[in-house]
Amino acid sequence: MNRYGRPDGWEAPREPPADSRPRILLLGASGFVGGGLWHRWAPRHAVVGTYATRPAPGLVRLDLRDEARLAALAADGFDLVVHAAGLVPLEAAEADPALAHRLNVRPVEVLLDALRGSAAKLVLLSSDNVFDGTRPRYTEADPRSPVNVYGRTKVAAEDLLLAEGGHLIVRIPLVFGRGPWANTFLSRLAAPTTPARTDLVCAPVYLPSIAPALARLWHHTGVVHYGGADVVTRFELMSRVQQALDLPTRVVPTQGTAAGSGCRRPPRLVLRSTRHRLLGPTLDSALAHLAATF
Ligand SMILES: NC(=O)c1ccc[n+]([C@@H]2O[C@H](COP(=O)([O-])OP(=O)(O)OC[C@H]3O[C@@H](n4cnc5c(N)ncnc54)[C@H](OP(=O)(O)O)[C@@H]3O)[C@@H](O)[C@H]2O)c1
Repeated sequence: MNRYGRPDGWEAPREPPADSRPRILLLGASGFVGGGLWHRWAPRHAVVGTYATRPAPGLVRLDLRDEARLAALAADGFDLVVHAAGLVPLEAAEADPALAHRLNVRPVEVLLDALRGSAAKLVLLSSDNVFDGTRPRYTEADPRSPVNVYGRTKVAAEDLLLAEGGHLIVRIPLVFGRGPWANTFLSRLAAPTTPARTDLVCAPVYLPSIAPALARLWHHTGVVHYGGADVVTRFELMSRVQQALDLPTRVVPTQGTAAGSGCRRPPRLVLRSTRHRLLGPTLDSALAHLAATF
C-alpha cells in the first residue's frame, strides 16, 4: 500500500539532498509540462520560473522574442536552465513555420550565446516528434527524420545544443496528467465527446514523474530519452483516463483522415534509452495516482 491507500499507485521518489540541488531557471513554467516541473521544484529548489501570456503565482514574465532580456536572465548565475517554453501545438507550428522557428529555435541560439563560458547547463525539452514513427521503438542512437514543422524545429534546436556540446537534450513523448494550471491534457476530455486516434501508438509519460526523472538525468550531456512504460494507442490512453477519472465524456475512436488534422503525425512513437534504465510509471500506477489526487 502506498500513501494513497493503493497497492500500486505511483509515488514520487525522494529528492536528492539539499546541498546537491541546483539553482534553476525554468522557461515555460506556466505551461503544461513546465507547470508540473514548477509544482515539484518550487518548494525544494531555488527556482525562477517564467510565463509569457498566462501569469501564475510566483512566475516572472518573459517573452522569448525579447532576446536581450532572455540573455540577461539566463546569464544570472543559474546552474541549470531548463527550457520548456515555445510553440508546442503541432497544428499551430504547421500553420506558421516562421513563428515556430522564431519560438522554438532562435531562443536556443540566444541561450547558448548567453551561457557560453559559464558553468550553467542548458536542458532542452525535446520531443519524440523528431522521429518519423516507422520503427518499433527509438533509442538515442536512431537517426531523426521529422515529418512535421514542429519536429523540424525540435531537430534544429537539438542541433544547436549538439554543436555546442556540454548541454543536455531530454526527449519526452506525449505527456498525460493534471497540470497545476495549464490542463492541456485533461481539457481534451472536457467536451461531451472526445475524439481519439486508434492509428497513433505512443508510450506516454505521466507528468508528475518528469521532474524527479530530470533530477536523475541532468548530470548527462547530449541526448537522453525518457519514455513511458506502456505502449498504447491514443484511443486506449484517453479511454483509460476517462474510466479512471469517471469523466462524463464519450471517447470516440477516429483515424487519420477522419481526425481532420492538416499536420502529419508519426504513427508509432516509443522512446527507449540505451543510456540509462529510467522509465515512466506504468499506466496502472499512474492512473491510480491521478485518480487519488484528482
Ligand atoms: N505536452 C507534451 O505532450 C509534450 C511532449 C513532448 C515534448 N514536449 C515539450 O515540452 C515542452 C513544454 O510543452 P507543453 O506541453 O508544456 O507546452 P505548453 O503547455 O503549450 O506550454 C508552452 C510554454 O511556453 C511558453 N511560451 C509560449 N510562447 C512564448 C513566448 N513567445 N515567450 C515566452 N514563453 C512562451 C508558454 O507561456 P504562456 O502559457 O504563459 O503563454 C508556456 O509556458 C516543449 O518544449 C514541448 O516541445 C511536450
